[in-house]
Amino acid sequence: MLDGKIAIVTGSSRGIGRAIAERLGANGASVIVNYRSERDAAEQVVARIEASGGRAVAMRADVTDADELRGLFDAAERHYGGLDIVVSNVGVARFVPLAEFTDEDYELIFSTNTRATFRTLREAATRVRDNGRIVVISSVAAATHRPGSAVYGASKAAGDALMRVLAKELGPRGITANSVLPGAIRTDALIELRPAAVLEEIAARTPLGRIGEPDDIADIVAFLASDAARWVTGQAVHAGGGMF
Ligand SMILES: NC(=O)c1ccc[n+]([C@@H]2O[C@H](COP(=O)([O-])OP(=O)(O)OC[C@H]3O[C@@H](n4cnc5c(N)ncnc54)[C@H](OP(=O)(O)O)[C@@H]3O)[C@@H](O)[C@H]2O)c1
Repeated sequence: MLDGKIAIVTGSSRGIGRAIAERLGANGASVIVNYRSERDAAEQVVARIEASGGRAVAMRADVTDADELRGLFDAAERHYGGLDIVVSNVGVARFVPLAEFTDEDYELIFSTNTRATFRTLREAATRVRDNGRIVVISSVAAATHRPGSAVYGASKAAGDALMRVLAKELGPRGITANSVLPGAIRTDALIELRPAAVLEEIAARTPLGRIGEPDDIADIVAFLASDAARWVTGQAVHAGGGMF
């Protein structure tokens, strides 16, 4: 389905990014598995993609560092000879009432979720080949406006706005750009941030009645990355089990 396509997934050694990388690899794409610190985890993702018959390589880069991000795209293009699919997945969350939010956490959230996403989209815009695919991993927090999510939600809403304009700018080349807005997804980040009781409360108010799994998001990204989604662009796809 994605045979011959080259994909880069930022932050794909763990969590949602890993599930996306593995799914794109299983569907035939050659995948650049980006990580920041855990090389072993990234190599395990590469091994799983290779075991499923795909091609993959692990590449270290901190996407919040402009030079490292540019170097990642350079290395990816050199390694596989082009780029067709970019998934901007790296992001961090803090859930604290706005009145208590520190400048340091604001800087962390916006430098990761907004500035690094902007730079990733800028690299994608000039490097992705015609008829390529760009996907931003956003969050339902961009749309649900729940207490504690002001800065995180604003940083993700900014990424969605960048995506919508880019979709119009790249449409003439057949390139689509979309974002996916996950609700709570069972990853290391979620378990660090949310006590078990809060996860139960989130599951209880989710219409589909559970916390999401990384594969729930990987399936949507695989669709958006495929030819089947060629007529879908500029869309923010809510993927919160009915929570919006
Ligand atoms: N989990 C949720 O409930 C949820 C809900 C809505 C939206 N999201 C969004 O989904 C995305 C993925 O979240 P997740 O929960 O899967 O995260 P996660 O479990 O914390 O995974 C983080 C991944 O990103 C890598 N990474 C972190 N910072 C990086 C950086 N600066 N440069 C390069 N790689 C970096 C990590 O690699 P190393 O370990 O090697 O550093 C790891 O592979 C984020 O944008 C998040 O906001 C998550």
